[in-house]
Amino acid sequence: MPQEVMQKAAAAVVEFDGSGLSLIEISHRSPAFVAIMENARSLALEHLGLQNKGYQALFLQGGASSQFLNVAYNLLESKAGYVNTGTWSLKAIKEAKLFGEVVEVASSQQENFNYIPKGYDIPADLDYLHLTSNNTIFGTQMKDFPKTAVPLVCDMSSDIFSRELDFSQFDLIYAGAQKNMGPAGTTLVVVKEDILGKVSRKIPSMLDYEVHIGKDSMFNTPPVFAVYVSMLTLQWLKDLGGVSKIEEINEKKANLIYSEIDLNPLFSGFAAKEDRSTMNATFNLTDATLKETFDEMCKEANINGINGHRSVGGYRASMYNALSLESVGILVDVMSELERKA
Ligand SMILES: Cc1ncc(COP(=O)(O)O)c(C=O)c1O
Repeated sequence: MPQEVMQKAAAAVVEFDGSGLSLIEISHRSPAFVAIMENARSLALEHLGLQNKGYQALFLQGGASSQFLNVAYNLLESKAGYVNTGTWSLKAIKEAKLFGEVVEVASSQQENFNYIPKGYDIPADLDYLHLTSNNTIFGTQMKDFPKTAVPLVCDMSSDIFSRELDFSQFDLIYAGAQKNMGPAGTTLVVVKEDILGKVSRKIPSMLDYEVHIGKDSMFNTPPVFAVYVSMLTLQWLKDLGGVSKIEEINEKKANLIYSEIDLNPLFSGFAAKEDRSTMNATFNLTDATLKETFDEMCKEANINGINGHRSVGGYRASMYNALSLESVGILVDVMSELERKA
């Protein structure tokens, strides 16, 4: 999280805006919180270039994992397509199968998800095609998206607001807040209104996107703190220069670490080069006996949380929007120091 967002959020928990009350005490129906929710929804659409284009932004609960089933509940009438690019795609596929036929149109599972499948056929009769733009665990990222008349649904949990795209190519985008937006507790759903209302099943209110749209994302008590912090982060991003500016910074961070991985013989990258994620760099030591030394050097440099997921092993450097170029530089310095020592 950006430091200034953290400070504002901390102050608001003690007292919100001179009101004598904490942010987490004020009524979610108060004009102050209604304005926060409206601002957060509008900033989300603005950053994606989707204002006045028939889209609605919702801040829901239940994490991106709830969207795995919510998407199918609201959109899957008979058949949906899924591109299987990792653990999170697999979880989305599992949930969708409860609601109708699921076609896996492409998969990189045979190669332990180290690349993004390309050039696959998309059946024309799908209700939607589901993609995962950034595979957090494997460190792969879609650079191009299929051109198709089938509605596109995309899980952007780990790269939303990190780069410019034509977001109008998607009919539904969802993302848990906790990578590039705010604390866990809310999930952004951006949906094109005209894809809704087409399934024949009855949808329980809490799972029905149309119900949430009708209530301006306040059908029930919203996660006030998570929405407020998300709003602050979206405002921070706007003040910084928006998605195009953060994309520039994110590319510098990614270039810095991937150049080191490619130049330093002690490291090898996990993901196919053309599919490398700007958010999560996955890599291994080429000589496993150096693990203890490298881990100790990282600890001394105060580098935390770079262990790879157990399904990949090695290391994963997550470089979400709020992480500075300097922080990536510290890791790269430790990597080159290891080469000098070894
Ligand atoms: C791409 C992706 N999708 C879905 C999820 C699950 O999100 P949540 O924990 O909010 O349910 C994650 C979590 O890391 C993720 O990275």
